[in-house]
Amino acid sequence: MRHEVVTVVDFGGQYTQLIARRARECGCYSEVVPWQQAPAKIASARPDAIVLSGGPRSTLEPGAPEFDFTLADGIPLLGICYGMQLMSRSLGGEVEPAKDREYGRQSLSWKEPGSLAGTLEGEVWMSHGDRVLSLPPGFVKTASTQSCEYAAMEDRDRRWVGVQLHPEVSHTEGGKAFLERFFREVAGLRGDWSARAFVEEATEEVRARIGSRKALCAVSGGVDSSVAAALVTRAVPGQVTCVFVDHGLLRKGEREQVRRMFTEIVHPNLIVIDAARQFFGALAGVTDPEEKRKRIGAEFVRAFEEHKAEFAECEVLVQGTLYPDVVESGSPTAAKIKTHHNVGGLPEWMRMEVLEPLRWLFKDEARAVGRELGLPAEVVEREPFPGPGLAVRILGEVTPERVKTVQEADAIFREELKSSGASAGVWQSYAALLDVRSVGVMGDNRTYEHPIVLRAVDSEDAMTARAAPLGFGLLEHVATRIVNEVPGVNRVLYDLTSKPPAPIEWE
Ligand code: XMP
Repeated sequence: MRHEVVTVVDFGGQYTQLIARRARECGCYSEVVPWQQAPAKIASARPDAIVLSGGPRSTLEPGAPEFDFTLADGIPLLGICYGMQLMSRSLGGEVEPAKDREYGRQSLSWKEPGSLAGTLEGEVWMSHGDRVLSLPPGFVKTASTQSCEYAAMEDRDRRWVGVQLHPEVSHTEGGKAFLERFFREVAGLRGDWSARAFVEEATEEVRARIGSRKALCAVSGGVDSSVAAALVTRAVPGQVTCVFVDHGLLRKGEREQVRRMFTEIVHPNLIVIDAARQFFGALAGVTDPEEKRKRIGAEFVRAFEEHKAEFAECEVLVQGTLYPDVVESGSPTAAKIKTHHNVGGLPEWMRMEVLEPLRWLFKDEARAVGRELGLPAEVVEREPFPGPGLAVRILGEVTPERVKTVQEADAIFREELKSSGASAGVWQSYAALLDVRSVGVMGDNRTYEHPIVLRAVDSEDAMTARAAPLGFGLLEHVATRIVNEVPGVNRVLYDLTSKPPAPIEWE
């Protein structure tokens, strides 16, 4: 069955993926397409609506990203920020560089009742340098702010809308209502995208792809790979083997938890590969974060290779890759911050066909699919955990002793978060170990030991995050317990930095 499709054309904006997520929240399947690939994609797929994202460039610069608006003939279109400026310039209006960059929360000083912008109650989020000086023919002004006359514009006949503000960002209070109205009422989409529909269709697709072959699910115990394994198990129950590599970089007690969770709930056929010794060998003396990731990636492959006889019959490899990984790895516009080890090629000898049944889903959608498949909260609500495990939370060399230190501190932090009830609103929380030392006193003795950093963040999708506002009493109690109970630690810090600029993980 063909779904309605919203194409989000990416001009390199920070919030492009958020636009795609918001469309999905409105029940509309959406895809992000880099602007260079948009003409071919739109011409072949004829989407039901198009959104032009924001972007860091100025439409006034030579060589700035472009869009051929004849492609959008007859298709409802929403231009956001750079997208609106591009609409204006390309369709016969004018854009000028603003004297000051307008950045942050603003109130609309005027909006036309009954227009789409009329739904924007409360504050809106602005972030732009250039602005529209005159509208293209066919468009009318529908909102202004104090410093931006054309904050929104519409051409009702063509169903084309431009906004200088960012409706996709949660700081724009009426943003959800605005987008919902654009997709449902202006573009007239039915909203035929849901977890239930996905499960039904994906089950059929997986069944057709795998046929009578055997499939291997590489699982980490995390939400994504567990949901992928459960989906494939639903599709071809007797043909699945799951394999879990214990790299020795797991949280305290996690190996047993994963084994139990898997065999009792997801799939009974789980092979556990104990490869801790090899991983520690590969990481000895390595301090550079990228080098750690590379070696861990290589070690995963080696662990599989050593055990390949156990799954020699498997011809299909199932991975829990999600849409953000696909977009981040494939985007020609986004800067590479770090290598995510789970996206990448397979070595020759593995020669298995790779199946990524969740590659179109965002994290919250993967969770909804898990629930739809009957997985309990214990599985679908699990915190994200990085593939390279505690290695990216141990600055400097990764040794068994340092892993033990971080595991103990982390276990105390999580235990206290849980018993205080604070973990409920936290997206991710962990302890990291630094490689500097500081002076302290324990009893009557001088110490010269390492600090532990606690990190707990609120986030919607890991793309942006804020430090969780944990109570001071709780933090103080955790710090006291860690310093008293974990050997080698004499100081505890709480990381207050938001993402951006600081990623959730320290490496
Ligand atoms: P950052 O640190 O980039 O992380 O803010 C965003 C989210 O991704 C997780 N993360 C990883 N997950 N392999 C993974 O599977 C990795 O290499 C990796 N690095 C970070 C991180 O825990 C957070 O949820």
